[in-house]
Amino acid sequence: MEINASTGLVALFGYPTGHSLSPAMHNAAFRTMGLDLRYLAFDVHPGELRDAVIGARAMGFVGLNVTVPHKETIMPMLNEVRPEAAFIGAVNTVTINERGKLIGHNTDGRGFMKSLEAEGIDAAGKKVLVIGSGGASRAICASLCECAAEVAVYNRTADKAARLVMDLGINFKNAVQIESLNAEAVRGYDMVINATSLGLDDGDPLPIDTGLLRAGQIVGDLIYRSTPLLQKAGGMGLCTFNGMGMLLWQGVLSSEIWTGQMPPVEAMREALLKRFQ
Ligand code: ATR
Repeated sequence: MEINASTGLVALFGYPTGHSLSPAMHNAAFRTMGLDLRYLAFDVHPGELRDAVIGARAMGFVGLNVTVPHKETIMPMLNEVRPEAAFIGAVNTVTINERGKLIGHNTDGRGFMKSLEAEGIDAAGKKVLVIGSGGASRAICASLCECAAEVAVYNRTADKAARLVMDLGINFKNAVQIESLNAEAVRGYDMVINATSLGLDDGDPLPIDTGLLRAGQIVGDLIYRSTPLLQKAGGMGLCTFNGMGMLLWQGVLSSEIWTGQMPPVEAMREALLKRFQ
């Protein structure tokens, strides 16, 4: 479809954005849906985020994706922040309505739950251990608390885990903190999820000693490729999943928010996988 005077634009604001898989994923969706929309990534310097947001509104962009380092700092620049984004303390998706009103959403938590569902994993009634208490952890914990029997958070910096569990406690009774990863504690969980950045870089230590895992556990990683943790857990015969599904489904939900239509999930998945080959 040719670009013309009525082509709409969705923009990604980040710094840097060169590594992002989102343009390929979202343009594949818009193309398949036959929508006159394009998705472009912009490197917005942190000091210029406000100007960029004002520009996006003035130029009538359809919406935004927001990534590091703007996910938190954009919040006071918006007219409204949806509750899930307020809890996480970060926005990844913005809609801009006809009157120029900017609304911040966060699709990470719901995207994670949709990815579990797509993998045939049901978190309902399960005991889940989440390692890490940064932004990604916050997003998935809030969604997991809605259906899991228990969500336990462990973090290197215990204070931050305590803070997350306290915040979750406002709405949920099933969030707990665990202060050490020992065999007795870890054995009690049905699912163990790495939400730390360990595994992103070669040579990173494992987020958890795999000797603590037991048969029957599901092991997940929010990093979107097979990490040493997942390789080891898979080698032990455990069911594993990586963060590719969460990346895909947060994008599916964002696309649905901008366009009002369910996007073609398989076309988006294919576009992501192609970039990974
Ligand atoms: P994200 O948005 O990806 O969640 P983040 O908010 O910076 O990123 O959170 C990173 C998480 O990885 C934190 O839980 C962090 O632990 P601390 O709170 O103790 O910093 C965890 N993390 C990062 N490097 C780590 C390491 N070397 N060992 C253990 N945990 C680590």
